[in-house]
Amino acid sequence: MTDGARVEDHYASAGIAERILGALWSANGLDSAVTPDALAPLDHFHGRGIQATRELVAVLGPQADEEILDIGSGIGGPARWIAATFGCRVTGVDLTPEFCAAARELNRATAMEDRVRILEGNALALPLPDDTFDRAYSQNVVMNIADKRGFYAEALRVVKPGAVVALSNLMAGPNGLPHFPVPWASTAATSFLSTEEETRADIAAAGFEILSFRDTAFETVPKQTAFRRKLESEGMPPLGMQVLMGERMRELTINSIRSLEEGRAIPVEILLRKPA
Ligand SMILES: C[S@@+](CC[C@H](N)C(=O)[O-])C[C@H]1O[C@@H](n2cnc3c(N)ncnc32)[C@H](O)[C@@H]1O
Repeated sequence: MTDGARVEDHYASAGIAERILGALWSANGLDSAVTPDALAPLDHFHGRGIQATRELVAVLGPQADEEILDIGSGIGGPARWIAATFGCRVTGVDLTPEFCAAARELNRATAMEDRVRILEGNALALPLPDDTFDRAYSQNVVMNIADKRGFYAEALRVVKPGAVVALSNLMAGPNGLPHFPVPWASTAATSFLSTEEETRADIAAAGFEILSFRDTAFETVPKQTAFRRKLESEGMPPLGMQVLMGERMRELTINSIRSLEEGRAIPVEILLRKPA
């Protein structure tokens, strides 16, 4: 099995959009509106959910009518929310066919099809022309990719000269591997966390300038710890990521937060610029 096939195997399941819409209607009522905000507890698939997306977007700075790229767009929650909030257009590219199908169905359900398009593809060979996007972002995707220089080089290729790219993900910590399974990988076979030094070197080798590089552990891990304790005592909330990933999500989330607490993974937010 290739790395890509193992990654898809970790994420894929049938009937994702139906489960998500079913969970939303059973929590909020059958006549409740299906909007990017209403779906947010179910379709931002990364630690701290929509709050992390809000923080990334504050750094990215999308503007109305811009063309934005989401690399590894998952089931499209961040893409829909950003397009709806800022009036831009977002193209999402993702490896997992079941996630792309769910993203398209949820685009239809939220009437966002004219603002968000989803392409199935690999971040290492984006199905997109050179110098196309005003801005790009990627959340918790590079952790599944061994060839990080290839990832950064492709991002650089498809954004316009002078464009910024915002990344939020986890780096390797000093205290060993994460506690598997975690939300991004069932085993170490598809988890590729780099140290800060390696990350900076890979970004520079691809040709980006680093505008900011922030370890966010100090401000985010205490909130994650509070969430872990709640999960341990009360289980997942009804509108939680278990709707997407199954009942294993509680264990995956607890393992991920313990890994952050123990310095086995470090959250980072990075802003890059393609030289003009
Ligand atoms: C943890 S999810 C994050 C999804 C989305 N960025 C979000 O925050 O909601 C990781 C995503 O990365 C995608 N992915 C992993 N490796 C990829 C690759 N080589 N190319 C494109 N997508 C990839 C997976 O299919 C999955 O949708």
